[in-house]
This record gives sequence, C-alpha cells and structure tokens, in this order.
Amino acid sequence: MRAVAVAHPNVALVKYWGKRARAGNLPATGSLSLVLGGLATETSVRFDPHLARDRVLLDGREDAETSARVSACLDELRREAGVGLRATVESRNDFPTGAGLASSASGFAALVTAGAGALGLQLEDQRLAEIARLGSGSAPRSLLGGVVLLTNRDATTVCEQVAAPADWPLEIVVAVTTTGPKETSSRIGMALSEQTSPYYDAWVETHGADLAAGLAAVRARDFPALAGLAEHNCLKMHAVMLTTRPPLIYWTPATLACLHRIQEMRRDGVPVFFTVDAGPQVKAVCLPQAADDVATALAGIPGVLRILRSPLGEGARLRANPD
Ligand code: PMV
Repeated sequence: MRAVAVAHPNVALVKYWGKRARAGNLPATGSLSLVLGGLATETSVRFDPHLARDRVLLDGREDAETSARVSACLDELRREAGVGLRATVESRNDFPTGAGLASSASGFAALVTAGAGALGLQLEDQRLAEIARLGSGSAPRSLLGGVVLLTNRDATTVCEQVAAPADWPLEIVVAVTTTGPKETSSRIGMALSEQTSPYYDAWVETHGADLAAGLAAVRARDFPALAGLAEHNCLKMHAVMLTTRPPLIYWTPATLACLHRIQEMRRDGVPVFFTVDAGPQVKAVCLPQAADDVATALAGIPGVLRILRSPLGEGARLRANPD
C-alpha cells in the first residue's frame, strides 16, 4: 500500500489570484502555465493500519497547516477506495520550499498521484485534478506536462495540455533571491486581496481577455506576443497584491533589478520575458538559444543567490521502482 510519485512545479503566464467560492478551493479565473521539468518534488504515500492519524513530513519536517490540506486530499482518495486507513506521507523538493516556486503545486500533484497509486485507484484525470485542487489551486496544472490551460467549467476546474514539451521547447531560468519561506502564503494573501484591493474586481474582469490572448500566442508559437501578455498579466497581479491591506510586497531589490535587466535584454533583441509569483524569485522564460546569456546576466545581479535552469517538463507520474 505504498507508492512514490514525481511531479514538477509550474509557473503561470496568465495567473490565478483569488477564489471563486471558498468551498472546494475553486479559482476565480482560469490560468495558463508552464511545467518546470528541471525542478522536482518526490512524494511517498504509505497507508498503514497501525496509524491513528496521517503523518506528513515535508523535507523532513511536520507542518500543521499543510498536514490538514494533505489529509483533506487523502480523505477524498480514501472515500474513492472505501478505506479508512491513515497514511505516512514523505515529500521532498530539490528546490527551495514555500518561497514562490510553486512547491505546493508539485507537492499536491505528486501527493494525489502517489495516494491513488498506493490505493490501487484508477481515477479519471478530471477527478484527480479535483482532489489535487483541494490542496492547492495551481496543483491540477502539474498533473499534466508542457503548457497547460486550466479553466473553470460549472463547479469544477478542467485542465488540458496546450503544447507538449517537444512542441515548443521553451527554457526557464529562475533567479533565486531568497531561500526562506514567504511571509504570507498564497492562500491567505489572495483572500486578503479579494477583500481589500480596489483593483481586485478589475483583475477578474480583464482576465478572460488575457487568457484568450495567452492561449492564442502559445498556439501560434508567437514568442513576442506571449512575452508582452505574460509580463502585463504578472504586473497586474502584483498591482493587486501591492494594493492589498496589509500590502503584499513579495519583491526584493534583486527581484526588481532582474525585471529591469530582462526588459533591457528584450529591447536588445533577446527572446526572454519575466514572470513572478507570490514570492521574490524571478522566472525568465526564453527561447533555448538565449538561455545561456540570460542565466549569465541574471547571475551577475547583486542579490541573486542562485540560478536554476529548466526545460519544460512532463506531468506527474508514479515511480516504477520506488526504493
Ligand atoms: O496554488 P496556490 O493556491 O498556492 O496559488 C498560486 C498563485 C500564484 O502562483 C501566485 C499564481 C498562479 O497561477 O500560479
């Protein structure tokens, strides 16, 4: 009754920030994302008749808030399998956790894949996505690979692959500017934005047009169009964050220096654009021929601690021979 799964974090080019309704953790908007194959989460789930409660270890540590969300996902899997067994969950990231690198997305995608595997469940993709969403709104996007579109349909979310990694081999260069966990989690931050930012309604109202434009740019493999649109959507989300009370200022001086450098490079003809999530790390998306120059430029910025490089990756999957 044990299985191990691997999943990769994803980064949204057209983002979600805000929930439609509290129940079921349904995002207010759709989103479009890239799966980062160079960064990975590995999660083991073992159901055990001797356990009285679920035990959750993230990078070797227990965390009450995450454990509650893990148990909510496991409860759904237990319901599907008709069992009451509790589980030990051990999850490890090979990148900084909780610092705006979407560790919750890869973590919950790996969790539901491993949990379903350990229980011998053959669930439809849609059902797995619903269960992953209970843990993190962006987790369903890490179940699939390449470029992934998440949309709301009726009272659920639907994910589809828009391009496989080989269809458009983009590269992502991540500039890590802090390694500690962020002060305000996405979940708490977006609830504050919904309640207090005067720009939140405009963000939701203009989102459909951004999603349609992003999707069209990916389908046409139109890098300049995607660059302009993704940067605009990212800055619009940060405008909502900055105008939240209390304000959500996720950037460091190094974050901003990276954004300026990336814009300068694009003006000089380098195919690169930025996006930033609820944290200080900058993700520079580029065509493969530009990745070396982008990595060198960002590595030279004061305050950039580390550069991570990633091609597009595959969706969550079970490890065939877990040790
Ligand atoms: O998946 P969550 O609930 O941690 O929220 C993620 C929100 C952003 O990363 C900021 C945007 C996105 O669409 O990934």
